[in-house]
Amino acid sequence: MVSFAILNYYLRIMDAIINQIENYSNEINLFTAVDTDTLEQFRIRFLGVKGIVKAIMGEMKNVPVEQKKSFGQTLNAFKMLAEAKFEAEKERIESLNVVTGFKIDVSLPGMPIPSGSRHPVTLMRNRIVEIFERLSFTVAEGPEIEDDWHNFTALNLDENHPARDMQDTFYLSTDPAILLRTHTSNVQIREMERSKPPIRIICPGRVYRNETISARSHCFFHQVEGLYIDENVSFADLKQTLYFFVKEMFGEDVKVRFRPSYFPFTEPSAEMDISCMLCKGSGCAVCKRTGWLEILGCGMVHPNVLKNCGIDPEKYTGFAFGMGVERPALLKYGITDIRLFSENDVRFLEQFSGV
Ligand code: DAH
Repeated sequence: MVSFAILNYYLRIMDAIINQIENYSNEINLFTAVDTDTLEQFRIRFLGVKGIVKAIMGEMKNVPVEQKKSFGQTLNAFKMLAEAKFEAEKERIESLNVVTGFKIDVSLPGMPIPSGSRHPVTLMRNRIVEIFERLSFTVAEGPEIEDDWHNFTALNLDENHPARDMQDTFYLSTDPAILLRTHTSNVQIREMERSKPPIRIICPGRVYRNETISARSHCFFHQVEGLYIDENVSFADLKQTLYFFVKEMFGEDVKVRFRPSYFPFTEPSAEMDISCMLCKGSGCAVCKRTGWLEILGCGMVHPNVLKNCGIDPEKYTGFAFGMGVERPALLKYGITDIRLFSENDVRFLEQFSGV
């Protein structure tokens, strides 16, 4: 017969244990295993040889006979709770995909991958370059900060040449004259100075002119320059090359015309127009009712330019051409304001992903 005082003592201890079981049960219910390590820690803490379940079971011997049954049931339920949680978490962890070495919960929604897009000017430049690459032209590049010789003088524009007024130049210094190149023709000179004919290059790049910024013109824009120097290169070669380009770029139906023009670095010089692809030549606002769009300047390289670069004009001839990139990009993508190209508005730029 146990005395009342002792019984009372055991009952208080049991209360404390039951309280603990409740706390542990909460902990178990809230548990989620992040990986096999945390699952193993859980197992050791609750179900291990020295774990909480075993420890509480050990109290059974101290429980008064009258309480043994109900305490036993509580303990059993607690043990089953811990075991069930362990099994459930084990199954979930094992179902995680470990193929890549990372543990991936395939039941989670995927994360969106934002895809970038190329700038429309880059897209157009790449298209132009790619067509000439098919004719064995190779890409050459030159500096945007240039000296007077490569931008003007070597291109047959001496100091007082009126054609200098055609290009409103940004000067960085005047003595010596250092400037932002006004055209990509500087790359012709650099290439002819550094290599021997045959030369067949295509030169994409950015150019600068001191012009008022508006929907139609900007103080910087892009050009692609072409140059072909070899023995017996003729104007017929120039025309054939540019015909090929136009058909590849704008399609078979597009008509082409050459108009005589003037550039100091070519003789003879021409400008090439294509029939307006928007109105098919009948006249619209884009072609200013003429039915034609001017797309490039070209000509046979002036003998003085060859001489300036150490190439014998008696032996070699060549053609050159230069075209803007923004204009055909505006036409192709139906854009009406050139300023959009340089404003970096993501809402504008992201429309070209997948183009
Ligand atoms: N450099 C000229 C411009 O800026 C374009 C050009 C015309 C380039 C005729 C050439 C050419 O190579 O032969 O407008």
